[in-house]
Amino acid sequence: MIDEAATTFEAVHGGRPTGMWAAPGRVNLIGEHTDYNDGFVLPIALPHTTRVTARRREDGRLRLYSAQGDGTVTDLSLDGLTPGVVASWAGYPAGVFWALAEAGHPVGGADLFIDSDVPAGAGLSSSAALECATAAALNDLYELGLTAPELALLAQRAENAFVGVPCGAMDQMASACCTDGAALFLDTRTLEQRHVPLDLAAAGLRLLVIDTRVKHDLGDGAYAALRAGCERAAELLGLPALRDLAVADLASALDRLPGELRPLVRHVVTENRRVLETVERLDRGGTAALGPILTAGHASLRDDFRVSCAETDLAVEAAVAAGALGARMTGGGFGGSVIALVAAGDVTAVSDAVRSAFGSAGFAAPVAFTAVPSAGARRVA
Ligand code: GLA
Repeated sequence: MIDEAATTFEAVHGGRPTGMWAAPGRVNLIGEHTDYNDGFVLPIALPHTTRVTARRREDGRLRLYSAQGDGTVTDLSLDGLTPGVVASWAGYPAGVFWALAEAGHPVGGADLFIDSDVPAGAGLSSSAALECATAAALNDLYELGLTAPELALLAQRAENAFVGVPCGAMDQMASACCTDGAALFLDTRTLEQRHVPLDLAAAGLRLLVIDTRVKHDLGDGAYAALRAGCERAAELLGLPALRDLAVADLASALDRLPGELRPLVRHVVTENRRVLETVERLDRGGTAALGPILTAGHASLRDDFRVSCAETDLAVEAAVAAGALGARMTGGGFGGSVIALVAAGDVTAVSDAVRSAFGSAGFAAPVAFTAVPSAGARRVA
């Protein structure tokens, strides 16, 4: 892989790269729209990665070339980098440079060749993968000595302040910190993390990821509106964040809120509980017992948080009807992907059932693959 990338790098930038860094996309097992409420999440990294082949430059320029781009080099001056000026995919790596410089880290220029097999717009965090691979590359090229969580937070800062998407920390933390064979149990308030072993094969299970092909776009304002609604609810309840509302106090809290905020709060509070229950079950080795929690999480996203769509609802319904132990949309919503926990022998039957249901509904064919918990950002060459 590195030889091929080095050849492209040389053709585009001239000369040899210093190395290659990779960072994965993610699926979230449970804990959706909890990260910006100081809550809990439980993502795994995908085997799919974005690779950044890179070398330092000393002239303050950032030259970006992507195998998935339009065949041209984006050439930026680091001096001119300000939020909002770089449109398209180049905003993610440029934003990471900007965030590092803003935090006072001595980063000069760089030549980057980017290649990725993380599906874009599928709710699988292709943007976090690009940010975290870039951050890992710059951390080594400039010997910054930053830790994985520090790089993740800088990547999140790039996305929030440079690209302009008010996301929480889950995607970047997953891409930077996940480990092979484990889910990342993260408290997004304290950033305390625990790697919870998840050996699907030993339990006779597979995790099916179904990309509905409905492009999800978090930049369109709906995500920001949901986040603002949650923050308003916490403020009205006199709490630092919805994380601080206990399940036992939910009913009385809902009575004190305007009608439109109630379902948001109900989702966040019950979803945090679902994360904790999932971790408890995994700790006891009950992987199969996760199924109903996943499906309950989907119902909450569909009926309370209202971020599912016809395609994600149909994928969940068809997967469960065909024998999946549980299924839910994963990621921000408004399209994107669904995960289904399936007995190893049922993978084909479940994916066929979803494909056929999509055909009957007149939806474009979904793309399904199985995923195992994989490693976070790392240097690969
Ligand atoms: C997107 C955001 C995350 C998180 C999820 C919903 O993926 O980037 O920070 O809020 O949506 O759980």
